[in-house]
Amino acid sequence: MAAPARTRKTASDKKSSQILTLAIDIGGTGIKAETLDESGKPVTDRHRIPTPKHATPRKVVAIIRKLARACSPFQRVSAGFPGVVKDGVIYTAANLGKGWKGFDLAAALKKKLSAPTRVTNDADIQGLGSVQGTGIELVITLGTGVGSVIFVDGHRIHLELAHHPFHKGRTYEDELGARALKKKGGKRWNRMLEEAIGDLHRMFNYDRLYIGGGNTKHIKIKLPSDVKIVSNLEGLLGGIKLWAEVERNIPPQTE
Ligand code: BGC
Repeated sequence: MAAPARTRKTASDKKSSQILTLAIDIGGTGIKAETLDESGKPVTDRHRIPTPKHATPRKVVAIIRKLARACSPFQRVSAGFPGVVKDGVIYTAANLGKGWKGFDLAAALKKKLSAPTRVTNDADIQGLGSVQGTGIELVITLGTGVGSVIFVDGHRIHLELAHHPFHKGRTYEDELGARALKKKGGKRWNRMLEEAIGDLHRMFNYDRLYIGGGNTKHIKIKLPSDVKIVSNLEGLLGGIKLWAEVERNIPPQTE
């Protein structure tokens, strides 16, 4: 019998031997998805469908199924959600529709997408992809809502600063969310951000503060040297890091 011909590994062989992760970002204005290889490099385009009004679990899961079809194949899923998540179950969803409290999003996606799924808070995902893993690292995100998470030597604790009083009885989200930026303008929003950075430094004594989210493009103030703007790219990497936590045997604190 003739020996099998030696074949060279093609790019698509290489792709298929990788574990591909469908990374989903559920936001207040858009739901985005793309598939990443193990190093966090996108292997598909980034697809986006606007978040519908009154975004209920049923509507959001239907959109994610559509996005997943455009991003196939993948072997596992990670999703960032704009609210409190524990063990894949949603506790709050301030900027989405009704019906989320108690909804097991991880289980629903696992079933509909036929792939193991981890779900955690969106700011936690941004943070996982951004932090160095040493010291006290605070992460905030500025988008529709205001996300927050703190890492101590790489261990994360989800925060919900968004709904805490910050300025004259108004919350961080009232002053720094997308609605405040639109209503009160960039100048005031930047002033509030400067004040918030000072407050957060006094409160957490962080070694580094990372600021992510779509509205970072409106930042005009000079940032202190321990404050860094992080991009979507780091946010994406977080989707992979969420799975790396499983491999490192980190107990599921909030997913
Ligand atoms: C939510 C947070 C979320 C943030 C950014 C806030 O309204 O309470 O959980 O991380 O928005 O989406």
